[in-house]
Amino acid sequence: MRRRFPAPDERGSKLGDMNDLSSLPPLHQVPIALADRSYLIDIGHGLLDIPPDYALPQGSSALVVSNETVAPLYLERLKKSLAPHYRQVFSVLLPDGEAHKTWESLNLIFDALLSLGCDRKTVLFALGGGVVGDMTGFAAASFMRGVPFVQVPTTLLAQVDSSVGGKTAINHPLGKNMIGAFYQPQRVICDLQTLDTLPERELSAGLAEVIKYGPIADMAFLDWIEQNMDALRARDSGALAHAVGRSCEIKAHVVGQDERESGLRAILNFGHTFGHAIEAGMGYGVWLHGEAVGCGMVMATRLSMRLGLVNSDFLQRITTLVERAGLPVQAPVLDASDNGARYLSLMRMDKKSESGEIKFVLIDGHGQAMVRGAPDTVVSEVIAASCGL
Ligand code: NAD
Ligand code: GLY
Repeated sequence: MRRRFPAPDERGSKLGDMNDLSSLPPLHQVPIALADRSYLIDIGHGLLDIPPDYALPQGSSALVVSNETVAPLYLERLKKSLAPHYRQVFSVLLPDGEAHKTWESLNLIFDALLSLGCDRKTVLFALGGGVVGDMTGFAAASFMRGVPFVQVPTTLLAQVDSSVGGKTAINHPLGKNMIGAFYQPQRVICDLQTLDTLPERELSAGLAEVIKYGPIADMAFLDWIEQNMDALRARDSGALAHAVGRSCEIKAHVVGQDERESGLRAILNFGHTFGHAIEAGMGYGVWLHGEAVGCGMVMATRLSMRLGLVNSDFLQRITTLVERAGLPVQAPVLDASDNGARYLSLMRMDKKSESGEIKFVLIDGHGQAMVRGAPDTVVSEVIAASCGL
């Protein structure tokens, strides 16, 4: 039976007419329906200027977690907005980068919480990309056995994916995102204006997670991305708003049905089995997460082709789109002496693996995804072809 994803509304076309995009109310709100853990994703321009009557989790104090790159750009503005909501607003800055998604950085959050006298009524705010968001969420899940938190994502990747759905984690040298918890934020505030300062390479990395939603769920969205890739890379505000809005709608729909990934949610990992192996194998931070996912989607599409699920035209379609997003499509060699074995051993660590059998998210070329194993010989051929060997 085919899954149905609700159709988008018309917001993308309305956005193009707006001249003054600052301090506007949310252009779009996406609800995420999870019984008593339900929340709203607000998407708009200038949302960092949170009004005093905006519904935030109640608390005695707030701790904004950010990093040394994002804080100089947006921290004071957010703290000013939070001042009418909380008696005290603190902040803590983490070192920047995937290589710092570690116990040591996580502990900096706990050090701040405890030394500042924070308590169960303290609300955490994650101001930054997916690295800050995943670590802040994990800290919120575990500090005093759980305090409320709000995601304020400032990268495209975080706005379309990581801030939504409650996956929180840190990395382990042996595997990506291996230590973490499912823990939902109470609100997600996506200020599209923050994307203005995002480096081009990071914008491209975010586009990987936007592209992902097409082949797994919505072929009309895939067509739209193809037609609007140049506008997205040029940061057209209407195109970005549509991309963030539709991505969040699809993610909310999936997470609403399978919060803890007992089945359907795994489709959101399209490209990630290969991608996580690239990240761990190269050393965290050498390839950006989105770059590894972009290349991983090409590899997963090639595997789908080898297994007879899509044809070579569809592989070419995905490869071209990933390349147009400014992302690498040739996989890196991880081990000159036995590259295939290195990929396979890293992928066996993947959270989807069962009794050592690697599970891949494969696609059918018609907007459906499935999770399946594949013979090692076929996977090795795909790795070799993807690395140009
Ligand atoms: P990131 O958090 O490292 O941010 C990318 C870079 O952009 C960083 O240097 C950051 O400081 C900088 N930055 C952030 N906002 C900026 C802005 N507005 N202007 C200028 N610079 C800015 O990386 P990311 O791509 O946002 O997130 C990747 C992480 O997200 C990975 O760890 C990945 O595992 C995780 N992730 C989690 C989920 C989930 O469901 N929880 C989903 C996808 C990815
Ligand atoms: N990014 C994959 C998920 O949230 O499940």
